[in-house]
Amino acid sequence: MTKMADSGSSVEIVEGCRLPVLRKNQEHEDEWPLAEILSVKEVSGRKLYYVHYIDFNKRLDEWVTADRLDMKKLQFPKKEAKTPTKNGLPGSRPSSPERELRKSLDLNLQSATAPSRGKTLPTPKRKVEPVPLVPQVPPAPPVASLPASTEASPAAVYPAARETNTFKTREDHDQISSLTTNGTARRLIPSQPGRKRKANCGPTDEMIKVLQYNKPQSASVFLPPPEDSQDSSDGIPSAPRMTGSLVSDRSHDDIVTRMKNIECIELGRHRLKPWYFSPYPQELTSLPILYLCEFCLKYLKSLKCLQRHLVNKASLQNWLNPANPAGQSDCCSCVFDQTKCNLRHPPGNEIYRKGTISFFEIDGRKNKNYSQNLCLLAKCFLDHKTLYYDTDPFLFYVMTEYDSKGFHIVGYFSKEKESTEDYNVACILTLPPYQRRGYGKLLIEFSYELSKVEGKTGTPEKPLSDLGLLSYRSYWSQTILEILMDLKPDNGERPQITINEISEITSVKKEDVISTLQYLNLINYYKGQYILTLSEDIVDGHERAMQKRHTRIDPKCLHFTPKDWSKRGKW
Ligand code: ACO
Ligand code: ZN
Repeated sequence: MTKMADSGSSVEIVEGCRLPVLRKNQEHEDEWPLAEILSVKEVSGRKLYYVHYIDFNKRLDEWVTADRLDMKKLQFPKKEAKTPTKNGLPGSRPSSPERELRKSLDLNLQSATAPSRGKTLPTPKRKVEPVPLVPQVPPAPPVASLPASTEASPAAVYPAARETNTFKTREDHDQISSLTTNGTARRLIPSQPGRKRKANCGPTDEMIKVLQYNKPQSASVFLPPPEDSQDSSDGIPSAPRMTGSLVSDRSHDDIVTRMKNIECIELGRHRLKPWYFSPYPQELTSLPILYLCEFCLKYLKSLKCLQRHLVNKASLQNWLNPANPAGQSDCCSCVFDQTKCNLRHPPGNEIYRKGTISFFEIDGRKNKNYSQNLCLLAKCFLDHKTLYYDTDPFLFYVMTEYDSKGFHIVGYFSKEKESTEDYNVACILTLPPYQRRGYGKLLIEFSYELSKVEGKTGTPEKPLSDLGLLSYRSYWSQTILEILMDLKPDNGERPQITINEISEITSVKKEDVISTLQYLNLINYYKGQYILTLSEDIVDGHERAMQKRHTRIDPKCLHFTPKDWSKRGKW
């Protein structure tokens, strides 16, 4: 451990010390959360301290000056081991989301903190071990206690007491009762072209009976126990998976990878402030700004290099003309680089275009440089990832927005060519300037449209980040509610649907369907049946949320033919 004296006092502040540190919260008020010192450096004779706020997400880690430290409450690290963390691993393991997020969502951090596991993010450089999963929404209570005898018994509707109270008239109530039925209504489910339906759907083939009437809505459901609780969509499987693309590897956890190393990235017209470490070459980490070509994602150390990289053929000749001294490169050899960039869009095939939104499919084997550069950029905003050298087993789906200058990257997701775990997304990212504008949900929606064409159900690779879980929860909720509320009464009888059918229509893996129904707290158990109640709040909230989703994926604009990678040898 490097011991460095605090210039302002005789007390030594060393790595591992904990003390309150001043920061601004989301409301721009001062607060003094406990933080751990991860590193100390001196710049122009002034000490700077790299702090991790305990119980805050790692992306808020930052360099602070001494005047922000509350020295009166300084705690020194224990001699033997580094300060233990919630998950029992040594060192300060940032493991919580931003407090603001937690507060607004009322997340239960204690029960939600999951053990650290990795996710796949292919990269050319080195393996970076995952950091602990940021806290997530606690899983809803399991339904494993469902009595076996009730699974196959007919459903009946019992509007929840709370629901009954909201009935405006006696007629409303009668209407509910008259729609109660045990009849089947599978014909309500539109057949999906190209979908391979399984002959036997297993226990999730039980009927959900849906009762529709003007607000408030109510429905009943038979809910079988999840078959594989390990696959919980809450992102907290009971044991680390060592198969598929998920690998747990903590061997490279060190002070270097725990600290963000790139100050700023210029990408097209945006300046991005990285949240986490990314294994860009060491010599680039001291730059105030790292320049990326927004089309091929090549990284360059100066604006001059970027301009040369982007130079078109005519101007390249100009550069190479010995009579033109400006052509002499003084910063790097990029002027002689044969791989000048003529790209104005990502490489690969454009498989979707509607309005200004396009998706490009990039093969990690065929476009290695691009894929590796994309992973390096993505790592700046993705934590708890295991990085691989090898991008070959992945496809990358890059979403762009078009203007007269070209197709600008907005976000992407990667996907294993073959997944034994039904993963349809490995890593997903919306670049920060585009976040919280619905693009994340658009990426998620696109991933499920691909799964629909493949005739499969899919799930994102676990663990999910805090923001990943929020986005998926929201997407799953809206997608499932959209289906339930669109079901029409069948000859005056309540329409029915099964978990499997919801799963097949949406391509959302059935465990995620079940966990979403639980998360939405729609399920009640009464006299051997599971009752699903869509309260007025849920219906209103859903309608409001759907009005905000103005940009949707249009399946008609998707030109995608899935490949059977298992028949292709090594991809
Ligand atoms: N605070 C609170 N809620 C948020 C936040 C936030 N910072 N960010 C997104 N959300 C919520 C939104 O409110 C929205 O829900 P709502 O419509 O019900 O209100 C939902 O999440 C999705 O919002 P979008 O605008 O569609 O998503 P966005 O474009 O911001 O992208 C994403 C979401 C991809 C997770 C983005 O935050 C991101 O790139 N984060 C960094 C990388 C990451 O964590 N990726 C997921 C890792 S898990 C995996 O890879 C499988
Ligand atoms: Zn380029």
